[in-house]
Parts: sequence; structure tokens; C-alpha cells
Amino acid sequence: MHDKLTIALSKGRIFKETLPLLRHVGIECVDDPETSRKLILDTNLPDVKIVLLRASDVPTYVQYGAADFGVAGKDVLMEHGGEGLYELLDLRIARCRLMVAGRPGVLDTRARLRVATKYVESARRYFAEQGRQVEIIKLYGSMELAPLVDLADCIVDVVDTGNTLRANGLEPLEHMADISSRLIVNRASMKLKHARLQQMVDRIASCVNQEGEKA
Ligand code: ATP
Ligand code: PRP
Repeated sequence: MHDKLTIALSKGRIFKETLPLLRHVGIECVDDPETSRKLILDTNLPDVKIVLLRASDVPTYVQYGAADFGVAGKDVLMEHGGEGLYELLDLRIARCRLMVAGRPGVLDTRARLRVATKYVESARRYFAEQGRQVEIIKLYGSMELAPLVDLADCIVDVVDTGNTLRANGLEPLEHMADISSRLIVNRASMKLKHARLQQMVDRIASCVNQEGEKA
């Protein structure tokens, strides 16, 4: 008899890129989140479920033990603070960079910059470390729009190809952090379901390392 396991994932790139890793530990999702409206997905194992959340809610579900483990971007974890959970593995998926972006030269135009972002904590920390005065404007998406309509001087957002910035006449200006997704585990689950979770983590780690050697 196995412990019940609940895995927290977000739809889209994290779900897609985590599936091959779960397959490696014998977990196959039987529902397709792109076509199903279900929020609790069944797997091939009757005691393992996947819950589908907003990316930024994954650490909260894991922190409170509503999910035993999950996958979240480092950007999201930096905002959340990591309370109540262990960050056990860098899965090297959903890779991007957290950056300051805007029109070229904009960072030298004002003593007190207006920065639009959903990454309020990371932005506050970054500019404080630099000793730069900023006013942070919290947004929930489409950050690239803010400098175009003079809501902000610059933005803090994740950048991958740079296509979104380019399409909106903006440029990456400063690199804040390299981002990838992490396997996070609830602290109590790690104690109570230790054998099963540790075995899973070890197998996923070996899969990630193999992929790393191929790359
Ligand atoms: P939410 O739904 O909570 O607003 P989101 O829209 O950022 O979150 P996703 O777009 O699925 O959610 O992104 C999930 C994670 O993937 C992010 O937290 C980040 O770590 C990473 N990511 C975001 N955008 C990109 C990108 N363009 N390329 C690669 N990785 C990315
Ligand atoms: C993220 C982010 C940027 C974009 C950056 O948005 O907020 O807008 O990706 O990626 P790029 O540098 O490759 O253009 P979102 O999650 O909406 O990206 P998506 O459009 O790839 O889903």
C-alpha cells in the first residue's frame, strides 16, 4: 500500500515539460489539461493525483500541504519566499532570465524610476541592493505595455527569446537572475512520506542529469 501523493503543476510549459520527468518515475497523466476542464487530474496510479493551478499559486499549495510536491519557476519562488517547503531539485526546464527592460537609456533618465512588474519583491530587493530609488507599480501581466503608455519607465519581467520585448520596441537592459523550474516538496510530506518521495526525487534527478549530459 502506497502513500497518497498530490502533485501541483501549472498548465502550459511547466505541465508539458514536467510530464516526461514524471513518466520516468512511472507516473502518466490520463487526462489532458488542454481539453479537460478538470482541476484534479487522474494518473495511471490510483493513489497519485495532479492538481492544476496558476503558476504563482503552486508554492502556496505545497507550503500548506494541499499538494505534497510541485514544480514552480525560480521567479515565482523568489516572490513566495520558500516558507514551509524544500526546494530539492533544479529541473532545468522553462528556462529564462529575469531582467529589467525598457527603452534604451531609460535607466539614466530619472532619479526615481517607475518600475512596472508582477515581481514586486524581486524588483524591490534588486533596486535596493543597487541603492537606486524606485516606485514599484504592481501588474498581473502584459508588463511590456506599461512603458509604451507611460505607466512606467521600465519593467521587470522574464525574457526568453526577447521576441516579446522586440515586438514592443523594448530592450533587455539589466540581467537580474537566471530562472528555471524547481521541484519543491512540502516539509511535513518529506518526513511522513520520506521513502517514496526520496526515491522519486533521486530518479528525477538522474533523469535531469542525463538530459544535462546530452545537451
Ligand atoms: P501565472 O499564470 O501565475 O500568471 P505565468 O503566466 O507566468 O503565471 P507560465 O507562463 O506558465 O505562467 O510560466 C510558468 C513559468 O515558466 C514562469 O514562472 C517562469 O519560470 C517560466 N517562464 C515564463 N515565461 C517563459 C518563457 N517565455 N520562456 C521560458 N520560460 C518561461
Ligand atoms: C512570458 C513573459 C514575456 C514572454 C517572454 O510571457 O511575461 O512576456 O514570456 O518570452 P520571450 O522573450 O520568448 O518573448 P508568457 O508566459 O505569456 O509567454 P508565452 O507567450 O510564451 O506563454
